Amino acid sequence: MRVMVAGATGYLGRHIVRELKDRGHFVRALVRDAVRLETVRDAVDEVFTADATDQKALAGCCDGMDAVISSVGLVGKAGKKTAWDVDYAANRNLLEEAGRAGVGKFVYTSVVRAPALENLQLVRAKRAFEAELRGSGLAYTILLPNGYFSDFDAYLEMARDGRVYLFGDGSFRINPIDGADVAAAAVDALDAAAHEVELGGPEILTHEEIANEAFRAAGTPPRIRHIPTWVITAGLTLLRWVTPLRVHGVIEFPLTVLTHDVLSPAVGRHRLADHYKEVRPTR
Ligand SMILES: NC(=O)c1ccc[n+]([C@@H]2O[C@H](COP(=O)([O-])OP(=O)(O)OC[C@H]3O[C@@H](n4cnc5c(N)ncnc54)[C@H](OP(=O)(O)O)[C@@H]3O)[C@@H](O)[C@H]2O)c1
Repeated sequence: MRVMVAGATGYLGRHIVRELKDRGHFVRALVRDAVRLETVRDAVDEVFTADATDQKALAGCCDGMDAVISSVGLVGKAGKKTAWDVDYAANRNLLEEAGRAGVGKFVYTSVVRAPALENLQLVRAKRAFEAELRGSGLAYTILLPNGYFSDFDAYLEMARDGRVYLFGDGSFRINPIDGADVAAAAVDALDAAAHEVELGGPEILTHEEIANEAFRAAGTPPRIRHIPTWVITAGLTLLRWVTPLRVHGVIEFPLTVLTHDVLSPAVGRHRLADHYKEVRPTR
């Protein structure tokens, strides 16, 4: 198939590009900055440069494509835009362009369904795009993955620095998933009928267990400081008051994930401990 990957420069997008090429597909990467394709440039056949919030700049990006896989989203970076600009509107722009070009399938990377998360701005923006996709008339699959391993690299960095900070008593649970496992599901979805695929990693871990795994990988003695959850609850309330949506909308998501159980069906095969063995220090 000829597949356009939007978000190709991101953690998941790079896995998707690699998975597509390994399975023999033609890959067009939609990027804002081709330099950021770095490690997967060899797996990309064509590059289309555009900011997906700019509808005009996207004109023609899906021409000649059989399918689009989008992992475009705002992840952990507070900038000028909100999730409504990117997770919702930029993906809607891509969907319009896909429809205009007569693309046969649209695969969208949304986020895990969990009661604690549904009212957060990022999740509401994603659910709003999911609704557009369902009503678009295009064949589609919505991926609903739990937190990616990349999000837990912060624990490894803290462990390398000698201390991990956890919220509550460390007993909140999650089954994070490797980007490679989500990418495999995204490529499987190209010719599968399922409209929704929930995705979690193979192991349900407490945050304390993840921190200890990080210490083992770092080779440092376990030193954990527990921060009471009320600090986060109070901090979030304050943040929502004193910062604009483009700031608190980005921060409220990870803080909520870290202070609740977030569980998904165990689909992934890769283990976090093995991922940690491969993460190089950032400084
Ligand atoms: N991280 C997680 O734990 C997690 C869990 C569940 C679901 N998800 C969802 O999975 C998706 C991918 O996550 P990720 O961790 O791979 O994020 P990521 O590494 O930050 O990648 C996001 C991608 O979106 C692109 N992008 C952002 N704004 C754009 C715009 N205006 N125009 C064009 N491209 C734009 C980024 O391009 P640049 O390189 O130019 O910035 C990047 O390629 C997101 O939708 C995220 O919400 C993430």
